[in-house]
Amino acid sequence: MTVSNVAGCGLQKGFTEVYRGTQLVINLLPKVKLEIVVKDAKVDDVVQIISRISRTGSVGDGKIFIYPVEQAIRIRTGETGDDAI
Ligand SMILES: Nc1ncnc2c1ncn2[C@@H]1O[C@H](COP(=O)(O)OP(=O)(O)OP(=O)(O)O)[C@@H](O)[C@H]1O
Ligand SMILES: [Mg+2]
Repeated sequence: MTVSNVAGCGLQKGFTEVYRGTQLVINLLPKVKLEIVVKDAKVDDVVQIISRISRTGSVGDGKIFIYPVEQAIRIRTGETGDDAI
């Protein structure tokens, strides 16, 4: 998997705070982005596990977006498709 420190906002569009007397509108909050490429048969399991461990029930728990990957290639061996995952 790939883990990245990113900035983002969801429906709450960040929050507003006062810093040294100046009102700051902070729209981007620090978030962690996971990118995980899995075989089709594993998608449901991975979604369930991430949902279970990430859910606090509060706003900002995050989202899971699912999209297809055209191809995967392990550079070292030349393997492609599921063999490269
Ligand atoms: N539509 C979107 N497109 C791209 N990234 C998104 C989108 N919605 C959320 N994100 C990313 O997910 C992070 C977490 O979003 P968040 O869980 O706050 O979504 P939400 O829609 O506000 O839901 P909630 O009401 O549970 O907070 C955001 O900071 C942003 O990085
Ligand atoms: Mg939110």
